[in-house]
Amino acid sequence: MNYTDEIRRRRTFAIISHPDAGKTTLTEKLLLYGGAIHVAGAVKSNKIRKTATSDWMEIEKQRGISVATSVMGFEYTPTLSGAEAESFHINILDTPGHQDFAEDTFRTLTAVDSVIIVIDAAKGVETQTRRLMEVCRMRKTPVMVFINKMDREGKDPFDLLDEVEAELGIRVRPLSWPINMGQRFKGVYNVFQQTLDLYTPNKQVVTESIRFDDVNDPQITELIGEKDADKLRQDLELIEGVYSPFDKGEYLQGELAPVFFGSALNTFGVKELLECFVQIAPSPRPIEALERRVDPMEEKFTGFCFKIHANMDPNHRSCIAFFKICSGTFERNVYYKHIRKGQMMRFSAPTCFMAQKKETVDEAFAGDIVGLPDTGNFKIGDTLTAGEELHFKGLPSFSPEMFKYIENADPMKQKQLDKGINQLMDEGVAQLFVNQLSGRKIIGTVGQLQFEVIQYRLEHEYQAMCRWEPISLYKACWIAPADDSAETKAEIEMFKKRKAQYMALDKEGRDVFLADSGYVLSMAQQDYTHIRFHFTSEF
Ligand code: G4P
Repeated sequence: MNYTDEIRRRRTFAIISHPDAGKTTLTEKLLLYGGAIHVAGAVKSNKIRKTATSDWMEIEKQRGISVATSVMGFEYTPTLSGAEAESFHINILDTPGHQDFAEDTFRTLTAVDSVIIVIDAAKGVETQTRRLMEVCRMRKTPVMVFINKMDREGKDPFDLLDEVEAELGIRVRPLSWPINMGQRFKGVYNVFQQTLDLYTPNKQVVTESIRFDDVNDPQITELIGEKDADKLRQDLELIEGVYSPFDKGEYLQGELAPVFFGSALNTFGVKELLECFVQIAPSPRPIEALERRVDPMEEKFTGFCFKIHANMDPNHRSCIAFFKICSGTFERNVYYKHIRKGQMMRFSAPTCFMAQKKETVDEAFAGDIVGLPDTGNFKIGDTLTAGEELHFKGLPSFSPEMFKYIENADPMKQKQLDKGINQLMDEGVAQLFVNQLSGRKIIGTVGQLQFEVIQYRLEHEYQAMCRWEPISLYKACWIAPADDSAETKAEIEMFKKRKAQYMALDKEGRDVFLADSGYVLSMAQQDYTHIRFHFTSEF
């Protein structure tokens, strides 16, 4: 297969959801279809989670939540009629389920070409989904929606569609439609393929689809009963009336989300989702670098690091830097340029991820994720190229929600602590701010759990002890001049002087204002009109 075909058949995406909506279950079912795993998750999804997917970190084993973001690749050849028979290479980037690790998920979203959002039919759109969707919207990422748990009583499907449109700010188009729900759930009609799938609760086997050329076919009435058949026909008519026909272009622009209904646990509606996904989801898309736009079809290799995973094997103190290949072919043992360091490097053991296994690879293509064993050379956001000076954009830091002073609890281990903090911050575990006046270090996180992870890892990986001390902060914002004028410069200097005890530097040495209340922040915004206060580091 030539290079262009290799890229064209790649689909790199993430599944995102509010915890418990069914992301892990859906991931496992997709892997099952790809033949990548052979045991259905329903056996006990926790078990699979423990052994198969993303339990690389000790802490995750302890807490049973998905802390790490891992990658799962598999091959899939569509089987439903109408689909092309070529095989696709699918890379699923798993994202941490826990909301305290939202920042990790945001970064993962910079490395995918599309997203599947899982929504619990009973709960509808939840907070975490809303926040993740904001990031998708910012990046115009194409999204598909899977409404899960139709085997349980949930909200009315039309209400759910309205909710998705209103809450996620995206137009929707149902491509499958449920026939009842809960105890009375009979199946889904696939609007995309014009097939009917009858539901039999089964965690392992898939029911055969029945194809119809016309929804008025009397056989449908025979199969699901007159009442449900009438309701289905009415619903489908309403759908055709209310929603404009599915437009792939709008989907690819991130403006329209196709919606599927099903039950991941019962392996129902998953295949339809997957078959439609491989057909319409984008192959690797061009990526913006500061210097220029990089097209995946370019022959020369470029890539950026979106995640660093420490100590996957507790017996070896090494990290794995996850690189998204933006263009060209990455080859083992070939020299590439580490742009930030200005150094040529080669990698003798790059890994790719096939389902739960990681394997050494000789080459990988645009769209793929390679894991490079690392001993502290890489930071999140680093670029590797075949030689060109390029810097990829779009790995913003978001203003954290919680702040604490980090103090050394063992005076003999100051060095270890400093090293640990630096490395953990390079990995993007949390954000570090150093007060410009006192020099005290402040850690900013999205949630309490991150503090616990940091403390645990400092102790177990760096043999350093830390202590947390409270600090009452409302927000951290990056400050920047509104223009280049001398007046603005003077205003910034004045602001920094007056607020000296609230000024900090982030890891990149940028000025950050630590506002201790919403009032203080809005007063500052009112009084200093030449200063822009930003809540993400990318502006
Ligand atoms: P997450 O990764 O989004 O957090 O969700 P996960 O897949 O772990 O699913 C959360 C719970 O929802 C699990 O139950 C799972 O079995 C259940 N679930 C997933 N899909 C469906 C579905 O289609 N129908 C129904 N009825 N339940 C579903 P659990 O009790 O938390 O875990 P387990 O003991 O079943 O493993």
